[in-house]
Amino acid sequence: MGGLGSATVTITIRVNRFAPRPERSEHHADSRFRKASSPFGSTRKRPRGRQWRQEYTLRAHPHDTVLDCLLAIKRTLDPTLAFRYSCAHGMCGSDAVAVNGTPTLLCTAKICDYARQDSLDDGFRRTLPTADPASGTRSPIKPGSTTAMSPAAAASAAPASSTPHLGVIELAPLPGFAVQRDLIADIDPMLEQIKRLQPYLQADGVLATTHDGKADVLEYLQKPEQLAKYELLSNCIVCGLCEGSCPVFAGGEAFIGPAALVVASRFINDSRDDATQPRLDAIDTADGIAACQSVRACSRPCPRGIDVGEEMWQLTTAVRER
Ligand code: SF4
Ligand code: FES
Repeated sequence: MGGLGSATVTITIRVNRFAPRPERSEHHADSRFRKASSPFGSTRKRPRGRQWRQEYTLRAHPHDTVLDCLLAIKRTLDPTLAFRYSCAHGMCGSDAVAVNGTPTLLCTAKICDYARQDSLDDGFRRTLPTADPASGTRSPIKPGSTTAMSPAAAASAAPASSTPHLGVIELAPLPGFAVQRDLIADIDPMLEQIKRLQPYLQADGVLATTHDGKADVLEYLQKPEQLAKYELLSNCIVCGLCEGSCPVFAGGEAFIGPAALVVASRFINDSRDDATQPRLDAIDTADGIAACQSVRACSRPCPRGIDVGEEMWQLTTAVRER
């Protein structure tokens, strides 16, 4: 949208929303008639609730991020909209969602790069006026309203009638994870899988000593080429974008997932770590590296520039050759 320069535009954000049903009582939860939620025997429950789509139209600057727009919506149009973020600078990994179906961080997705000029009339039912199913209250939201503005748009606000419409951006929770509410996915399975692979340095615990009996502070010195083997991997922010792109991951019950394997690879490639063999054993399981189908969809979205698919392939080779 280079032609728009710094002009204010309107943008429509279409959000897949979800409001969980209240938990059932302990009596029902422990019922012997309750089915396991997965054929792999996991007891993790996927929340049930109400799903609907909601559109918000607001004024913004073409270089605003989708996160800027969601914050403006939350402040001025709909305080019930739920999403997660922290740093707003692509550093914490907490705001991974699907933007137009592609796993992306909300804070790095500029609206000028993602807005599509497709029709707003997509045949989906809309909720008007919008009710919050959790509280049962009705909110004064009018999809199509242009009363919201991102901070950048507010600084150069033009009358809504004279602003061009940039298009539509569709948002949904990160694929492959159970949704907790609106755009918030339950990332606990990913964190549990990472914990399972012991994401910390394991050395023998015995400090080397110099010839005069003092602790050898140079013991863990590494050459630049040793550091280069894992330095990029240590930049993983556990955002889950690679897992959301992986067609095999789907919640991590059949596949431990690329994020956990990247963390494992970070320590396998660290010359200071003494647990290489146990680490390779730990990923040589049916739900470990063997479950990776080398689709390599995981490489494209990594915000830290890690070629995740290539790392999976390197791990496959390391397990085979050990
Ligand atoms: S490897 Fe990249 S995409 Fe995957 S969790 Fe780490 S930072 Fe995110
Ligand atoms: S909010 Fe931290 S990475 Fe986007």
